[in-house]
Amino acid sequence: MNKGIAIYPGSFDPPTNGHLDLIQRGSKIFEELVVAVLRNSEKTPMFSLSERLQMLRELTADLSNVRIDSFNGLMVEYAKSIHAVCILRGIRAVSDYEYELQMALMNRKIEPTLETVFMMPADKYSYVSSRLVREVAQVGGPVKGLVPEVVERKLREKLDPAYKLQDPNLMEVPKRRKKKA
Ligand code: PNS
Repeated sequence: MNKGIAIYPGSFDPPTNGHLDLIQRGSKIFEELVVAVLRNSEKTPMFSLSERLQMLRELTADLSNVRIDSFNGLMVEYAKSIHAVCILRGIRAVSDYEYELQMALMNRKIEPTLETVFMMPADKYSYVSSRLVREVAQVGGPVKGLVPEVVERKLREKLDPAYKLQDPNLMEVPKRRKKKA
């Protein structure tokens, strides 16, 4: 296919391995993939917009045709403003289909020139969602393998501020004092 710009919109609160898998797949198909994080969602997110943008930028630093941005209001209007020709969405299981179908048809009604393309993440991520990751992490459960390491660390920092002090990788190395002569 490899035609034009595609937009991959979402909340990404937080980005999961499923999201990253889809970004990697999408980046191989489209000329440019713009991962667009929704601003001003009605829900109160666990991670601020800037935290989500920062995590996504870090995770996609090695993908030269992937750009991270945010948008407000109607997604299709933002998509048009960046000259996107496609909306990329992930479908994990049949349960996603109804909501995604409604959204795709509504978006088509508003903007008939934009096509929605569905892709499946790797089956090992078919049960992974940001909501479940937040739920598990909030009660101290393991999220290893479900989210990238940077996200796992951010979740721990957010939910347990003392974690920063426990992780030797995150601890600041104290500067050595010069010995007095
Ligand atoms: O990751 P999510 O929460 O499933 O993403 C949903 C998202 C952000 C793609 C959708 O809610 C959206 O596009 N919101 C922007 C407002 C809009 O255009 N709504 C009409 C959708 S039919």
